[in-house]
Amino acid sequence: MSDLTYGKQTNRNNLMDPNMSGDELVFFVNGKKIIEKHPDPEMTLLTYLRRKLGLTGSKLGCAEGGCGACTVMLSKYQPHLRRVLHHSVNGCLAPLCSLHHCAVTTVEGIGSVAGKLHPVQERIAKSHGSQCGFCTPGIVMSMYALLRNNPTPCMADIEEAFQGNLCRCTGYRPILEGYKTFTKERRCCGGKGKENGCCMTNGDKTNMYTDEHAYRTSVLPAPLYDPADFQPLDPTQEIIFPPELMSLGKGQSSPQLRFRGERVLWLQPASLEQLLDLKTQYPNAKMVVGNTEVGIEMKFKNLLYPVILAPAYIPELNTVQHTDEGIVFGASCSLTLLGDVLKAAVGELPPHQTEVFAAVLEQLRWFAGLQIRNVAAIGGNIMTASPISDLNPVFMAAGCKLTLMSKGGERVVVMDEKFFPGYRRTILTPEEVLLCVLIPYTKKGQYFAAYKQSPRREDDISIVTSGMSVTFAEGSSVVKHLALSYGGMAATTVLAKNTASRLLGKQWKEELLQDACSSLAEEMTLHPSAPGGMVTYRRTLTLSLFYKFYLTVQQKLASEGVYKDVVRADYISATEIYHHKSPSSVQIFQAVPDGQKEEDVVGRPMMHLSAMKQATGEAVYCDDIPLYENELYLCLITSTKAHAHILSIDTSEAESMPGVVSCVFAKDIPGSNMTGPAVYDETVLADDMVTCVGHIIGAVVADTQAHAQRAAKAVRITYQELQPVIITIQDAITHQSFFQPVRTIQRGDLDQGFTQADHILEGEMHMGGQEHFYLETNVTVAVPKGEDGEMELFVSTQSATKTQSLVAKALGVPASRVVVRVKRMGGGFGGKESRSTTLSTVVAVAAYRLKRPVRCMLDRDEDMLVTGGRHPFYGRYKVGFMKSGKVVALEVTYYNNAGNSMDLSLSIMERALFHMENSYSIANIRGRGYMCKTHLPSNTAFRGFGGPQGMLIAESWMSDMALSLGLPAEQVRRLNMYSQGERTPYSQILEHITLDRCWDECLEISQVNQRRAGIEQYNRKHRWTKRGLAVVPTKFGISYTALFLNQAGALVHIYTDGSVLLTHGGTEMGQGLHTKMVQVASRTLGIPGSKIHITETSTNTVPNTSPTAASASSDLNGAAVHNACEILLHRLEPYKTKNPNGCWEDWVRAAYFDRVSLSANGFYKTPDLGYDFETNTGRPFNYFTYGVACSEVEIDCLTGSHKNIHTSIVMDVGNSLNPALDIGQVEGGFMQGVGLYTLEELKYSPQGYLFTRGPGMYKIPAFGDIPTDLTVSLLRDAPNDKAIFSSKAVGEPPLFLAASVFFAIKDAITAARKESGLSGPFRLDSPATPERIRNTCEDRFTKLCPPAEPGTFTPWAVVV
Ligand SMILES: Cc1cc2nc3c(=O)[nH]c(=O)nc-3n(C[C@H](O)[C@H](O)[C@H](O)COP(=O)(O)OP(=O)(O)OC[C@H]3O[C@@H](n4cnc5c(N)ncnc54)[C@H](O)[C@@H]3O)c2cc1C
Ligand code: FES
Ligand code: FES
Repeated sequence: MSDLTYGKQTNRNNLMDPNMSGDELVFFVNGKKIIEKHPDPEMTLLTYLRRKLGLTGSKLGCAEGGCGACTVMLSKYQPHLRRVLHHSVNGCLAPLCSLHHCAVTTVEGIGSVAGKLHPVQERIAKSHGSQCGFCTPGIVMSMYALLRNNPTPCMADIEEAFQGNLCRCTGYRPILEGYKTFTKERRCCGGKGKENGCCMTNGDKTNMYTDEHAYRTSVLPAPLYDPADFQPLDPTQEIIFPPELMSLGKGQSSPQLRFRGERVLWLQPASLEQLLDLKTQYPNAKMVVGNTEVGIEMKFKNLLYPVILAPAYIPELNTVQHTDEGIVFGASCSLTLLGDVLKAAVGELPPHQTEVFAAVLEQLRWFAGLQIRNVAAIGGNIMTASPISDLNPVFMAAGCKLTLMSKGGERVVVMDEKFFPGYRRTILTPEEVLLCVLIPYTKKGQYFAAYKQSPRREDDISIVTSGMSVTFAEGSSVVKHLALSYGGMAATTVLAKNTASRLLGKQWKEELLQDACSSLAEEMTLHPSAPGGMVTYRRTLTLSLFYKFYLTVQQKLASEGVYKDVVRADYISATEIYHHKSPSSVQIFQAVPDGQKEEDVVGRPMMHLSAMKQATGEAVYCDDIPLYENELYLCLITSTKAHAHILSIDTSEAESMPGVVSCVFAKDIPGSNMTGPAVYDETVLADDMVTCVGHIIGAVVADTQAHAQRAAKAVRITYQELQPVIITIQDAITHQSFFQPVRTIQRGDLDQGFTQADHILEGEMHMGGQEHFYLETNVTVAVPKGEDGEMELFVSTQSATKTQSLVAKALGVPASRVVVRVKRMGGGFGGKESRSTTLSTVVAVAAYRLKRPVRCMLDRDEDMLVTGGRHPFYGRYKVGFMKSGKVVALEVTYYNNAGNSMDLSLSIMERALFHMENSYSIANIRGRGYMCKTHLPSNTAFRGFGGPQGMLIAESWMSDMALSLGLPAEQVRRLNMYSQGERTPYSQILEHITLDRCWDECLEISQVNQRRAGIEQYNRKHRWTKRGLAVVPTKFGISYTALFLNQAGALVHIYTDGSVLLTHGGTEMGQGLHTKMVQVASRTLGIPGSKIHITETSTNTVPNTSPTAASASSDLNGAAVHNACEILLHRLEPYKTKNPNGCWEDWVRAAYFDRVSLSANGFYKTPDLGYDFETNTGRPFNYFTYGVACSEVEIDCLTGSHKNIHTSIVMDVGNSLNPALDIGQVEGGFMQGVGLYTLEELKYSPQGYLFTRGPGMYKIPAFGDIPTDLTVSLLRDAPNDKAIFSSKAVGEPPLFLAASVFFAIKDAITAARKESGLSGPFRLDSPATPERIRNTCEDRFTKLCPPAEPGTFTPWAVVV
């Protein structure tokens, strides 16, 4: 007997016996059989892989199925289909216990650097699709699973496969570009196809570059990578499904299983009868199929389900039956299966029968990501009874029939408004289960549509979702039956019954529309404080979506000859469903000069040095470090009040819980409890007072993460709440709650400027903050060394030195006893510059006190709650300008929401002021900046560091000015742009300015004039969709504004075998700094990069380092590396001279035997820097990085959604050290900016509670958000004499260029407003979300849903 028949399996009676012991779980991982004797029902597959099997390639990014970092492939044998199904799934949601007889493939299972990379791994690495690499294993596995099912996919398949994957670094373009080589359309021959090499690099260049401009201007350089290097995909080489599982699947029915954990019993019945028995025995047992809802409830809502029933394998719940009425789906059928079956039916049946099917398919297109749809069940969606379910409104409007079953019998109910008696409730009795769902065919004369509106198109939950059905009396347009069902408008899915009955018997024409709208406006109403907020928008959507349905039906009636009038041509775009066009792109950069030696890698598009390891999962991130023996896990205890005294802390329950070792509070800190990166104005652990929700009060330390997290939730804290609670900038202004100083920059004579001006315009704007959403959350492992107070910390931080000094301060030991090591980060973006230090300090204090290694990796929700983000800004401006558009005076006041401590807010405000004029020359100017002290977690550095806020407000008055003058915005911008030799408001003279060149090239690449003409024509022909365009420049000052930080060190060792160990002060967070430093060292030493190695950044090699920030790390560390290498070269010179024909190794050995030191320190400080705010003198910046972007968008005026149609970016990065990395920074920064200005919205309650604490509610751009047509050009022939090898800094400057998308949206809204007779400047705050876009496109529908009077209600969320 094979051990896979499991002698230890339960029989039916055992399953019913609560006292029986558990079964063994048997599954395969990467071809290896795993027998787990004690599987914990609460453990996820991801935890098991990482902690039990040591397979750390799969990453934890969110634990809620929203980022895809944990993606693995799950394979199951399907006996009825006689084939193995491969699916991508989220390891973070898949319960370990659900894997019996499954095979799991992880990123480690498909290839390795030491062995051979799988083509999927190789192509993402070589196409520069991996920066920090934290998302890479998940993306690799999504692609791998797709290719296992379909070795020749098309681009649409790839885009679908990536709907559930996020990347915060790359901007997605290189990933898609690299994987395009697997598609039918652009399949690469792998260097085998043509005589002269690869099909993609020889002759047929249209495969790579689609932009004609590149040919016209003959600037096409060598490509960023050569697909000829790619290995071909050979599906026959894939690891096979374990034959044991296959034979078992053929031979047996589904096994019955029982797994018992610490708190939860998992029961997997083998038959329907057994399930119904168990449901009678355990009426409160939770059924789990995909676990995509229950998993979230247990993890984030702290719900415990002591008994779980897993009906996934019961045949009756998995069958699909075609009947006369429609198609019946078993409740456990996955959404992927649902989609496949419906797609086939739509293809085969007459269209009039499949209107509902098509509508379900349209909803499924935007339902979660593929990983979720692969496991989530149709029954799970219904039974969750979520008010924003995407399927329930369709099922309700379609009148789907549900079969419910219990031991007592079966009943069939129609899904109507009675099915959901309340929030997340259904009419099922506790003993009942949902057996199946009948989705009916439609009949002739019936029309059906479904709509979903969400902040982001892909993988997002709905704001409003809807199913609409109308049936007409035969051959007429008289309404016989109407069902309008909405989600997002009440605590349950609802039917607009009054409206429907009011419209019965009416003709489907304008009068009906008017009736419907006024009735819906009354019926689908919401209280202004309704949970979810966006009340006006949601109400308007109910009308707008109905209007779309109205037009769609009208169009169908017209096409069938029932309706005489055709729909107006300019209205038709309102009826079109969104079609995604696969993106195309061009990258332009300067090739290295002729004659540059082959081995000189500077200026070449060299791949990120860790990219291969990142793609195979071998790259080690902080939490991938194997567990230390005796290691403990720490979980933070945080405040639930924004402003309060702590009255008591009760840890008794927590301390009695399993695995708990200790709790840590302020009194346990041996040194100082005061901390902060610039001033010590915050506590490591709150003593008696909390000043924000999320304020760290203490920590629980336990043997495992699960135990620590459970115990932390059991700590009881009582508070005395204090007043005032200051949350928003407006609150702070009211209470005059500001940090000091108030900064001012002033030049010229403002009064004179305003007197001289022909026009004066005043306005204001708010710009929201931004969550960093680095894919790897904050993590620290602290290891006490046992003597002299020594402590070693492995940290994901941009500031090794700051971490070292603040930890030493808290421990009360000299900094020399603390070593901080940073191997790499899974993204930083400023979020790990200062806010990471508090977590590191708490972990270090716990480790110090308990004398044991302690680890903590924050969960995504904790990280978002605790660590702060980009500062929200509010700006008021008064601008004076001439008729020509020339600005002569500007007065601007900025307020930023600093949160509860200073952190870096002053420097951030200073940078906002340094960028208040963006790229425009203004003779008379004054900017003033206030830092608002509020009861929010302290806000901090984020790529751009105040610049993107300062400049957005500048572009806002610029665009309003152009609008008020009726002049083209491009003309006004160009007129005001700086020229060579002009002075900035802070008196710095601009030298080597390339703004004009960037501007002209950008206009040319994007063919602005033709584009503008095209847009005008489009807008004339389309009433309900509008296009817009904007060209925006940027000038970004390079240097830390804190003078002392403009220094760097490096340490270079040459070993006697000639290998070189390089260390410098910068940290690697994906930006490719280490790669660039190797390039610098390689050129300076004149040796191949392969001889140079960087292991980590550490405080015991290069001390007193500045944070890796301000875009200046390549400049500073590059110069320090260069300095160290020059010193060494100088020492080697005599041996080179003596032995000119020798090689590197010969010279190194000779020097060693001659007793010459082969180790050198390098140092660099930026010369001629320093600025004085008092006197407005000096030079704050070493130089400026310039860039210009042109973007075109299309908005849907009825829903507020937008499409990014085109973007061209021209960026001056000097002589690029590495065009691949620099283009990666440009594209990645740009997409982060797209998120900032159009999508990402933090929602706080008026009491300071953050609602948006994970990818479910906080949306960063996804694959589908990149411009359909994207060109990035690095300005050629623009060397910069102020930085290493004539390069320029690139990390932060491109982010602001995404403002071109924001202002293109504003341009499109202007066109929409014109249709309603509105003209002139209007306020559009950032981000330009669908809600803001829709509300600003005022029309007949918005008028029916006026907003409630401010001050008459308490909103659900406030603008902070
Ligand atoms: C990242 C992410 C994105 C999502 N996106 C969307 C989205 O776009 N739109 C949307 O509508 N939802 C979305 N969801 C919600 C969720 O995925 C769906 O509701 C899904 O269909 C639930 O199915 P499941 O099998 O995973 O449910 P489970 O979590 O296994 O179960 C959910 C509930 O259904 C009950 N249940 C399951 N089967 C039965 C049965 N046969 N009889 C009685 N009760 C049963 C369970 O007891 C439980 O209460 C998303 C979830 C995640 C995590
Ligand atoms: S960690 Fe699983 S989806 Fe984010
Ligand atoms: S490379 Fe994708 S998140 Fe960093």
